[in-house]
Amino acid sequence: MPKPHIPLEEIRTSVESCRRCPLCEGRTHIVFGEGNPEARVMIVGEAPGKNEDLQGRPFVGAAGKYLDELLAMAELAREDVFIANVLKCRPPGNRDPRPEEIEACTPYLREQTRTISPDFIVTLGNFSTKFILKTDVGITRLHGKLAQAGKFQVFPVYHPAAALYDRSKRTALEEDFATLGRLLAEEA
Ligand code: URA
Repeated sequence: MPKPHIPLEEIRTSVESCRRCPLCEGRTHIVFGEGNPEARVMIVGEAPGKNEDLQGRPFVGAAGKYLDELLAMAELAREDVFIANVLKCRPPGNRDPRPEEIEACTPYLREQTRTISPDFIVTLGNFSTKFILKTDVGITRLHGKLAQAGKFQVFPVYHPAAALYDRSKRTALEEDFATLGRLLAEEA
């Protein structure tokens, strides 16, 4: 018997009281994720940064502003997609997520993904790509190529924060979002 889908509000309540890893000690807010609960496209980032921790919302800083521009290149707006992260709490000093934190936190992402059931998951950067695709291959080789994870089509791209100050990554990221827009139009 397949497991029933857990309503997003119920998952959020579990995350709000989560103490599965030490990141709960330093958080101001959890960053559950937000957007259209019936989105065709789910965007998965890495972890909240300082601004996200303060506001409890994903991608509200400089990388978020750039993400909005990228979404527009695929003819998408924030309200069309659901944006979540691998980790729901901010790692101190924005360091990389640790394997034990990813293990503790990702059951929530898995539940979110099952409930939203998007057609496409766009993974931003190495951490989310590695988690969703269960691969050790890096984003440099995987970006812009459609892959499959169970019933989901997965489209890995560079993380917008990594591309902000790197012209060649920025070019690749913008081309990849234009490709995403074409893929979505083809499958509409
Ligand atoms: N970077 C991420 O990966 N996620 C956020 O929410 C913000 C910045």
